[in-house]
Amino acid sequence: MGPADMREHAIAAMPRGGPNASWLDRRFQTEALEYLDRDDIPDGIKQKVIGMLDRLGTATNQHQHHAQITLEAVCDISHPRILELGAGHGKLSAKILELHPTATVTVSDLDPTSVANIAEGELGTNPRARTEVIDATAIDAEDHSFDLVVFAKAFHHLRPAVACRAIAEATRVGRRFLVIDLKRQNPLALLLFPIVRLPMLLVLLPWSWVWPGMHDAFISALRAYSASAFEALGRAADPAMRIDIQSLQTRLGPPSLTVLFSRPGATRHDRMSSLSVTPLI
Ligand SMILES: C[S@@+](CC[C@H](N)C(=O)[O-])C[C@H]1O[C@@H](n2cnc3c(N)ncnc32)[C@H](O)[C@@H]1O
Repeated sequence: MGPADMREHAIAAMPRGGPNASWLDRRFQTEALEYLDRDDIPDGIKQKVIGMLDRLGTATNQHQHHAQITLEAVCDISHPRILELGAGHGKLSAKILELHPTATVTVSDLDPTSVANIAEGELGTNPRARTEVIDATAIDAEDHSFDLVVFAKAFHHLRPAVACRAIAEATRVGRRFLVIDLKRQNPLALLLFPIVRLPMLLVLLPWSWVWPGMHDAFISALRAYSASAFEALGRAADPAMRIDIQSLQTRLGPPSLTVLFSRPGATRHDRMSSLSVTPLI
């Protein structure tokens, strides 16, 4: 096995907690898939999970917060071209357009049903938005077609080897790649996660959404990457990759991270310390 193959193998085998994850942390990850990732799950169930994310994001003002963070990352560009991957319900892109008068967005997801739903809704009629089915790991676009690529609450869906490819792809088409995702919790917090989360879901969701929502939320927490895992994935995509990781303070949602990947030569950006984003490392 050559050095490149060995590096690839190390990334593929990397635990979600990063190369130096503890024995206990490694016990608290799973190969189980969320409903959203499974071909054998009907669209109706998947859309209940998407509905849950939309409703919780609205109730906690998360869509707006994520849109503000996204726009911070392009504050030096007058007409930012933004690609949203894994958009699900599309509310992040809708907020971006609401908050920025000249931004344009390509709203995408791997799931054709979600993209069709977005295209049929209000966002689909906005002249500054286009919708497209896109796989984050193989983006059909020219180099530097976008000023920023954003992927919210979806990066943990990708296995390490695939996640590394997504970083390479997003920083090819967009130069800067903003990931907003769950922050990996310690094993005790992971154990308590269902107890902490359930009351909020019971209050905010229709009864039939609660099980699909809990199922995917718990698996997401077990699949979340740590800051050191993000570092390792970024370096594997490009050893010279710049990686800015910040902790995202949320009022009611689970603890989250923002990670801004940029290739050497991309416009310098280090203005992500405002809002409620605090440096992590
Ligand atoms: C948990 S949802 C997040 C939805 C939305 N971004 C949010 O913040 O609520 C994850 C989304 O990522 C999408 N997804 C999963 N794998 C993907 C991939 N390889 N490329 C693009 N989207 C993907 C799923 O279809 C799903 O819509």
